[in-house]
Amino acid sequence: MGRRQPEPKAYSPEPPDNLGDPRFHLSEALHTRWRLSVPEAAEEALCEWLDAQGASAYYREADPPKAFWAYFPPEQALPDAAGLAAIPGVTLEVTETFADEDWLAKSREGFGSFPVGRGFWVKPLWEAEAAPEGRIPVVVNPGLAFGTGGHETTRLCMTLLEELKDAGRLRGPLLDIGAGTGILALTAHLLGCPGPIQAFDIDPDCGPAMEELVEMNAGVLQGAQPFHGFVGTLESPEVEGPYQGLLANILLITIQELLPRMAELTAPGGFLVASGILATQEDEALISLVGAGFKPEKVLHEGDWIAVLAVKA
Ligand SMILES: C[S@@+](CC[C@H](N)C(=O)[O-])C[C@H]1O[C@@H](n2cnc3c(N)ncnc32)[C@H](O)[C@@H]1O
Repeated sequence: MGRRQPEPKAYSPEPPDNLGDPRFHLSEALHTRWRLSVPEAAEEALCEWLDAQGASAYYREADPPKAFWAYFPPEQALPDAAGLAAIPGVTLEVTETFADEDWLAKSREGFGSFPVGRGFWVKPLWEAEAAPEGRIPVVVNPGLAFGTGGHETTRLCMTLLEELKDAGRLRGPLLDIGAGTGILALTAHLLGCPGPIQAFDIDPDCGPAMEELVEMNAGVLQGAQPFHGFVGTLESPEVEGPYQGLLANILLITIQELLPRMAELTAPGGFLVASGILATQEDEALISLVGAGFKPEKVLHEGDWIAVLAVKA
């Protein structure tokens, strides 16, 4: 259970272009992975940088020291690690290379199943073991789009959705904004939220990721289509209020930009679950929500992050 921690490795401040050192010798057949130290606040910027550099996968481990791993395929040049200097606080700690046959094992390292909230059991798609009695399995493909349940903010939102369900307040129409894989929309469906449930993301990679999430969870869905997923924005024609609930696990700065439109789209008495907010930003977030006509009702904390449940006046 839980995620395995990385084996202790020697600290190496060297960028991975030191071809004289056998640790960094790259042949065409070798994959590369980096272990990075990444402050939570820098994670989004780093992920964008890694996407632009052609990383094949990246993830943060759930357990301390919460190392961040990035993977690069053999067929492309490794990015210049000096580019990391533009992201405050990020340091490259270890560079490893490994052959094709180790790829699967390496990319699965650090991923296990784990409980979320009172009733969910998030497990990677290669995990054969059944969920513990009484927990609903949610199958994820770690390392692709954000939304594997491995991040505190996703877990906090899933927990708030459970609480809304227990209070009889989880009902559609529901809109998951910045859905990633669509894990929050799927969670709402699995909790019995009467639809329609929509989920969208601006990132084109999230279209296939949403489809994949539904396919991976076919067992528990039993033919049901849990949500309508699409790539778009809050201005897309598919987005038509009023909604009884909005989910927005994005960065606070993006939430602040979208809040006026979110308020227009939410029915009176409808809820907003907002996360992607650092605990240090709690006051700023609550002030922004109130300013947009959302009354904060509950704040959940995990690690450096919070999620807020707010109600539209
Ligand atoms: C932190 S991830 C959350 C993913 C998933 N909802 C979860 O809870 O795990 C934030 C997502 O918001 C998306 N995003 C960022 N800005 C956005 C915007 N203006 N509109 C829609 N999606 C946005 C990103 O592409 C990213 O997939």
